Amino acid sequence: MITTIIVVLIVLYFVKNIYTEFVANNSNPLAAGDNDKDKSIVQGKFTPKTLAKYNGKDDPKIFIAVKNRVFDVTQGAAFYGPGGPYENFAGRDASRGLALNSFDPAVLTPIDQPIDDLKNLTKLELESLESWDEHFENRYKIVGTLHENGTVKEED
Ligand code: HEM
Repeated sequence: MITTIIVVLIVLYFVKNIYTEFVANNSNPLAAGDNDKDKSIVQGKFTPKTLAKYNGKDDPKIFIAVKNRVFDVTQGAAFYGPGGPYENFAGRDASRGLALNSFDPAVLTPIDQPIDDLKNLTKLELESLESWDEHFENRYKIVGTLHENGTVKEED
């Protein structure tokens, strides 16, 4: 009898270990800790034009750029997907819109123009942008960076 109980406990122990390992390997990367998130970063170079197709329509993925880092916001499709309140940001450099707290599409620089250098933003606007940047960093995976015509944009 005792032997049976011991055998059952050992079997349960192994089953639990296998289950825990399975859950860890299949967990949602967005729900994972920072280290796991960093490992899953896919580095890609985008220009405003190559970014534009990731708008949830031309491509089901939705990317947005904030301060020249490109985030995969596909998980937030309810916000940025077609018909969402912030769809104007999908496939675009959203920095100025976030700084000004405006989802007016006219605020964003057209994709055939040089990347917005954000130089004329006020201190308050820069702070707003900064806190949105943190929000995206905490919530979404970085998939690349935004560049002018494929050349690396100089840091200010
Ligand atoms: C009209 C008033 C507004 C209301 C009632 C509103 C409401 C909301 C709500 C309820 C959320 C979800 C918060 C969460 O669960 O994390 C949200 C997120 C957000 N809002 Fe607004 N919002 C407004 C205006 C704006 C404006 C003007 C902008 C322009 C920058 C904006 C940009 C965002 C962004 C970027 C998110 C984050 C979505 C994400 O986590 O991916 N909102 N808003």
